[in-house]
Amino acid sequence: MQPEYQGQNWAVYLADTVEVMHAMPEGTIDCAIFSPPFSDLFVYSDSERDMGNCGSHDEFMRHYRYFAEGLFKAMKPGRIVCVHCTDLPSRKGRDGFIGLHDFSGDLIHAHQAAGFVYHARCTIWKDPVVEMQRTKALGLLYKQLKKDSAMSRVGMPDYMLFFRKDEPNPQPITHEPADLPVEMWQELASPVWMTVRQGHVLNGRQARGQEDERHICPLQLDVIERCLTLYSNPGDAGRALSVRG
Ligand SMILES: C[S@@+](CC[C@H](N)C(=O)[O-])C[C@H]1O[C@@H](n2cnc3c(N)ncnc32)[C@H](O)[C@@H]1O
Repeated sequence: MQPEYQGQNWAVYLADTVEVMHAMPEGTIDCAIFSPPFSDLFVYSDSERDMGNCGSHDEFMRHYRYFAEGLFKAMKPGRIVCVHCTDLPSRKGRDGFIGLHDFSGDLIHAHQAAGFVYHARCTIWKDPVVEMQRTKALGLLYKQLKKDSAMSRVGMPDYMLFFRKDEPNPQPITHEPADLPVEMWQELASPVWMTVRQGHVLNGRQARGQEDERHICPLQLDVIERCLTLYSNPGDAGRALSVRG
């Protein structure tokens, strides 16, 4: 499989990620950061290889478990996978009730079944007013408070889930230790990331052509940067993208 672009220590593939991973030698990836399709919630492309194009949530999870097995093989032992997701609203018409579906829980179980250790979770704050304006969700409407406050709810955050391919016998680190200012570490170590810029996404600056995929829930560049800072080491592929401060 040939990359689209490549340089020293990096390569970009425009391909089915499942095929690329399975073609990689075992234990290749230093750090994985991605936002998978949110089950069958959105249509991203018309490709049958797109994991979002599935008939049901159960079918999506079958695809995802196969993907997670490939990822487990491709990861280096001791390293971290960072998965961006949210829980999913259920709909009365489709699901029979208004509530939430524990999608983050399903992803955790799929990664554990593939062999990963559930390492950490970070909540990414999102503005409930923006969500209310976008979705008109009943639980977020101010008037719902007066009508029946039992149906009110808080807004939906995003999550970063972190998984580790465990290394039973970790080797001593040979590279220079990270030089991270303590204030920045405190910000990154916070269980809720409050300052992620929601509009700071690739799609805001590029990908405006008619043929482009519909990026309905793009991953914020701030989040990618934070994950690279936390979980990549000097010399890793992608490390050059990490901006500190
Ligand atoms: C939640 S979106 C995230 C998009 C991207 N990370 C961004 O920040 O804009 C999920 C993306 O995964 C892509 N995708 C689904 N199945 C795939 C596969 N088998 N190989 C590669 N990409 C896939 C979808 O087309 C969609 O663009």
